Amino acid sequence: MKKTLCMLLAAAALLPAAACAQPVEPDLSAYEDVSGMAEIPIEILGELDEETREDLVAAPKYVALTFDDGPRADTTARLLDGLLERGASATFFVIGEQVPCNKELLRRMKAEGHQIGNHTYSHVRLLTADKDAVIEEVHKAETLLKEAVGEGSFWLRPPYGLIGSERSRLIQTPMIYWSVDPQDWKLLNKDKVVAAVLEAVQPGDIILLHDFYSTSVDAALEIIDRLQKEGYDFVTVEELFRIQGVTPQAGVLYARPDRIRNVS
Ligand code: NI
Repeated sequence: MKKTLCMLLAAAALLPAAACAQPVEPDLSAYEDVSGMAEIPIEILGELDEETREDLVAAPKYVALTFDDGPRADTTARLLDGLLERGASATFFVIGEQVPCNKELLRRMKAEGHQIGNHTYSHVRLLTADKDAVIEEVHKAETLLKEAVGEGSFWLRPPYGLIGSERSRLIQTPMIYWSVDPQDWKLLNKDKVVAAVLEAVQPGDIILLHDFYSTSVDAALEIIDRLQKEGYDFVTVEELFRIQGVTPQAGVLYARPDRIRNVS
């Protein structure tokens, strides 16, 4: 549009003086018409210095890695080393039964900025458990976690992601499902798990893995290396909610901060 205007003005300038006695005023409103068009931000970006442009292109994309069914002394410790080395945070949904033997590991998780969540005391299917058992399984794991790492809110990940609407009303913390599941427990193969995650991942996702398996620890560390190069930042689930301005509600099962999973 700009070009057409210039051409018209240039053509007008070439006309004999007599014909130009009443020059046509350029219609500046035409600029307003194009202000919302896609090419405008590209033009602006083009005028930026190289460093600012790189910063904009590399603006962080946030994602949360979550690990279920731990802690397990050897694999979880190795994972924590790798996370620390890479400056990545994660969330661990731990099984209550495994808390007493792994207190030091849990304290390390907390000290290094990771989030700790509840995965029930003995990994029960909450959907079919008695209501009393649901309360007991959650409460028992929570008590052990408080003994190990102190007071806090330990968000629940129901084993297998199953709970049902009736039982979810008994839960007094937010519940976290996932939005990317590479089925690491089934594949037991680092490269396949990495490929499955990289193919599916979007900013804001919650990725399900299990620190119980050595292949999953290897996969997690490679996923971090690959996605950090693409500008991803690894945060805890709690941070992911905060960044997106979502206050999670107790008894609600979230697949991501912006997506609730229907439990009925
Ligand atoms: Ni599990």
